This record gives sequence, C-alpha cells and structure tokens, in this order.
Amino acid sequence: MKTKALIVFFALVFVSFWAGGIPVSQAAQEKVNEMLKKATYVGTEVCATCHEKELKEFKLSIHARISNDKAEGAAQGCEMCHGPGSIHADASGGKDNIINPRKNPEICFTCHLDKKMEFRLPYHHPVLEGHMSCADCHNLHGVDAKPWTATSMEDVNEVCFKCHKDKRGPFVFQHDALREGCTACHQAHGSVNEKQLVARDWNLCLRCHIQPNFPTLGNRTHTEIPQGSCWSSTCHSQPHGSNFDKHFRY
Ligand code: HEC
Ligand code: HEC
Ligand code: HEC
Ligand code: HEC
Ligand code: HEC
Ligand code: HEC
Ligand code: HEC
Repeated sequence: MKTKALIVFFALVFVSFWAGGIPVSQAAQEKVNEMLKKATYVGTEVCATCHEKELKEFKLSIHARISNDKAEGAAQGCEMCHGPGSIHADASGGKDNIINPRKNPEICFTCHLDKKMEFRLPYHHPVLEGHMSCADCHNLHGVDAKPWTATSMEDVNEVCFKCHKDKRGPFVFQHDALREGCTACHQAHGSVNEKQLVARDWNLCLRCHIQPNFPTLGNRTHTEIPQGSCWSSTCHSQPHGSNFDKHFRY
C-alpha cells in the first residue's frame, strides 16, 4: 500500500516537472489552500495579539481604509491578504497554515485582476513565474502600498535600484528624464513592447522632446532619419545616461 502511494507521488512529481507546469512553490501553496478551506476568519484583533508590529504599520495603510471591520465572517483586515486564519491562530503560528502573498500573489488578484493581465504581457517582471514578488516593489503593510507617493516622499526609482543598480549612475551626463521616474519610459508590471517600454519607437522620446528642437547631425536633420527607435546602437544607445557623451550615444 505504502509503496503504491509513493509511486503515485513520484509519478506526480515527475509529471509536474516534465510538464514544466506548476512551480513547486505553487504546488505547496495549493496544499495550503486546500487546508484553508477548513479555516474560518477570526478578525484582525486576533492576529494583533501576536503581530502587534504589523498591526501598527497596517492601521494607516490604504488596505486598512477599505476594510470594513463590522463585516463578520468575511475577508477583512489582515485576512483579505492572508486568508482565513483560524488554523494558524489555533496553532499559535506556523508557516504553512496561512497565506503569504510573497510566495504566491494569487490572493491579490481576487481584487486586482487587471494586474494579472499586465504580468501576462509578453515583456514583464517574472512575478507569476515566482522569481519575484509584489512585495519587492510594494509595501503592503505600510502607510503607502506605493512607497513613492507624496505621503512617503520616497523616490519612485529607489525601489528599482534595489535590483537594477547600474541604472543609478552617477553618470557624468545624466538623462534628466530619470527625474520623472523610471516609469516615464517603462511599464513597471509588463508591456507589449520590448524592455517593458511604454512605446516601441521614437514616440517614446517624442513624449518629452519636440522633434524640431533636435539639432542637426552632420548635414542631416533628425527629420531625415528613418522613423524608428532613437536608441539603436549607432544613436542614443545609452538612454539612461553616459560617462562619455552628453548626447548619450556611447
Ligand atoms: C497565537 C499567536 C499568533 C496568532 C494569533 C497569529 N499568528 Fe501569525 N504567526 C505567529 C508566529 C509565531 C509566526 C512565525 C511562524 C514561524 O516563523 O515559524 C507567524 C507567522 C505568520 C506569517 C508568516 C508566514 C510565513 O509564510 O512565514 C503570517 C503571514 C502571519 N503569521 C499572519 C497572521 C494573521 C493574518 C493572523 C490572524 C488571522 C495571525 N498571523 C495570527 C503567531 C500568531
Ligand atoms: C494588502 C495585503 C496585506 C494585508 C491586508 C496584510 N498583509 Fe501581511 N503581508 C503581505 C505581504 C505581501 C507580505 C509579504 C511581505 C514580504 O515578504 O516582504 C506580508 C507578510 C506578513 C507577515 C510575515 C512578515 C515577515 O517578516 O515575514 C506577517 C506576520 C504579516 N504579514 C501579518 C499581517 C497582519 C497581522 C496583518 C493585519 C494587521 C496583515 N499582515 C495585513 C500583505 C498583506
Ligand atoms: C479585498 C480586495 C483587495 C485585496 C485582496 C488586495 N487589494 Fe490592493 N487595493 C484594493 C483597493 C480597493 C485599493 C484602493 C485603490 C484602488 O482603487 O485601486 C487597493 C490599492 C492597492 C494599491 C495602490 C495603492 C496606492 O497607493 O494607490 C496597490 C499597489 C495594491 N493595492 C496592491 C495589492 C497587492 C500587492 C495585494 C496582494 C498582496 C493586494 N493589493 C490585495 C483592494 C485589494
Ligand atoms: C517591479 C516593481 C513592481 C512589481 C513587482 C509590482 N508592482 Fe505594482 N506598481 C509598480 C509601480 C512602479 C506602480 C506605479 C505605476 C505608475 O504609477 O505608473 C505600480 C502600481 C500598482 C497598482 C496601482 C495601479 C493603479 O492603477 O494606480 C496596483 C494595484 C499594483 N501595482 C498591484 C501590484 C500587484 C498585485 C503586484 C504583484 C502581482 C505588483 N503590483 C507588482 C511596481 C511594481
Ligand atoms: C526584486 C528585483 C527587481 C526590482 C525591485 C525591479 N526589477 Fe526590473 N527586473 C528584475 C528581473 C529579475 C527582471 C527580468 C530580467 C530577465 O528576464 O532577464 C527585470 C526586468 C526589467 C526590465 C526589462 C529588461 C529586459 O532586458 O528586458 C526593465 C525595463 C525593468 N526590469 C525595469 C524595472 C523598473 C522600472 C523597476 C522599478 C519600478 C524594476 N525593474 C524593479 C528584477 C527587479
Ligand atoms: C528616457 C526613457 C527611459 C527612462 C526614464 C528609463 N529607461 Fe530604462 N530603457 C530605456 C530604453 C530606450 C531602453 C532600451 C535600450 C536598448 O534596447 O538598448 C531601456 C532599457 C532598460 C533595461 C534593460 C536593458 C539594460 O540596459 O539593462 C533596464 C533594466 C532598464 N531600462 C531599467 C531602467 C530603470 C531602473 C530606470 C529608472 C532608474 C529606467 N530604466 C529609466 C529608456 C528609459
Ligand atoms: C520624461 C521626459 C523625457 C523622455 C521620455 C525623454 N527625455 Fe531626453 N531629456 C529630457 C530632459 C528633461 C532633458 C534635459 C533637458 C534638455 O536638454 O532638453 C533631456 C535631454 C536629452 C538629451 C541631451 C540633449 C542635449 O543636447 O544635451 C538627449 C540626447 C535625449 N534627452 C535623448 C532622449 C531619447 C533618445 C529619448 C527616448 C529614448 C528621450 N530623450 C526621452 C526628458 C526626456
């Protein structure tokens, strides 16, 4: 009996690898989900008895504001993102009896379904693949889920520099466009354009630069250059900034 179960188990493991389908963490998450079907909502006050620090941070957050504490037996407060917590609370904690959206963002999509679509666009941050998390860029407990808004005063770019350090510079010739944030040119979640750009051709640059203002290039003007990208290898190949050329060509 035992061997049979083992064979079935390994066959399943093999199939899931072979199909390249379910990442292991997702399989683990499904086990959690199955268990959570038996759990019930206990309410934020119960979580707070052990997670005082999280509650303190969370109180001022945007998700706390949309929460309705009077709605009994529903996903409110902490449990809107962590799922029903009775089993976790009864066990006085534990890792595999509560949803942690760092491991799987599926619960976020119950409300932000449009974001799932964005991460499915051809060029995207590998969140659905499990290589990074919403929490790498968003602070879900904090006052601001988007830590770069007017309230938090954090620069939008800081969150990107955590992983894309080379874009911080300093460059001798810095492209002032970066002052408006990486999102002036890139779609943070995903895009139909390569490199997650907000536009695929010179329209990207024309959002801020008016063509007639461009200087001439030798005896040609910019208008005579075939329409296409401005950042091809012979042109402004360093759109973030350059240490060698003030026109960001190399
Ligand atoms: C009786 C105390 C207690 C209560 C009540 C409690 N927790 Fe926990 N929780 C813990 C402990 C202890 C850990 C750390 C477990 C570990 O690291 O092994 C933990 C860990 C967690 C984690 C991290 C899990 C992970 O993947 O590492 C989350 C999320 C969490 N709790 C959320 C909640 C929520 C939401 C509630 C309310 C529904 C809640 N907890 C209620 C004690 C509690
Ligand atoms: C809007 C969604 C959201 C809500 C609401 C929320 N959390 Fe979380 N929580 C997260 C995410 C995302 C993470 C993973 C953060 C990370 O790993 O950086 C997390 C992580 C945690 C952890 C693990 C911390 C650690 O250091 O690993 C605990 C404990 C926790 N939350 C408790 C709570 C409690 C208690 C509440 C209510 C007061 C709450 N959360 C409300 C999204 C949420
Ligand atoms: C119960 C529904 C619900 C869940 C679950 C939920 N959110 Fe939200 N979230 C909202 C609502 C409503 C807003 C308010 C702003 C809006 O209209 O988008 C919001 C706002 C946000 C914002 C924008 C905040 C701002 O400053 O504008 C971010 C980022 C966000 N959520 C991320 C997440 C992530 C990541 C998760 C999962 C860990 C999550 N949310 C889970 C409903 C939810
Ligand atoms: C690489 C960093 C990054 C990751 C990962 C990320 N976000 Fe965002 N998110 C952003 C940025 C930057 C913005 C602001 C975009 C803007 O203002 O143009 C944003 C905006 C949002 C907003 C508010 C959008 C609006 O319509 O105002 C929501 C909601 C949100 N993200 C949810 C999520 C969810 C859910 C996940 C995980 C599945 C996630 N994000 C992962 C960077 C990220
Ligand atoms: C937690 C780490 C992390 C953070 C934070 C992060 N990124 Fe990324 N970024 C990645 C990874 C991983 C990839 C995928 C690289 C790959 O597929 O080779 C990526 C890819 C990209 C790409 C496409 C690169 C290419 O060659 O196609 C762009 C553009 C990008 N990120 C911009 C941003 C911006 C803008 C932010 C801030 C809103 C940001 N990233 C925050 C890790 C991160
Ligand atoms: C003026 C528009 C613009 C701004 C602002 C901008 N980028 Fe880019 N970025 C581009 C273009 C154009 C490319 C494509 C370059 C190529 O294909 O050679 C690119 C490519 C990238 C790539 C992939 C290729 C590489 O060089 O690694 C990453 C990662 C990236 N950008 C991150 C960022 C980050 C992080 C920020 C904010 C600090 C940022 N970008 C701000 C225009 C911009
Ligand atoms: C968000 C706005 C914005 C976008 C988008 C943008 N730029 Fe800029 N760019 C600026 C600002 C601001 C300056 C500095 C002021 C100036 O010289 O006009 C600048 C300066 C430059 C310069 C230096 C000009 C000089 O003679 O010193 C070049 C070259 C340049 N940008 C190329 C590009 C290219 C190529 C793109 C598209 C990939 C682009 N820019 C997209 C805002 C932007």
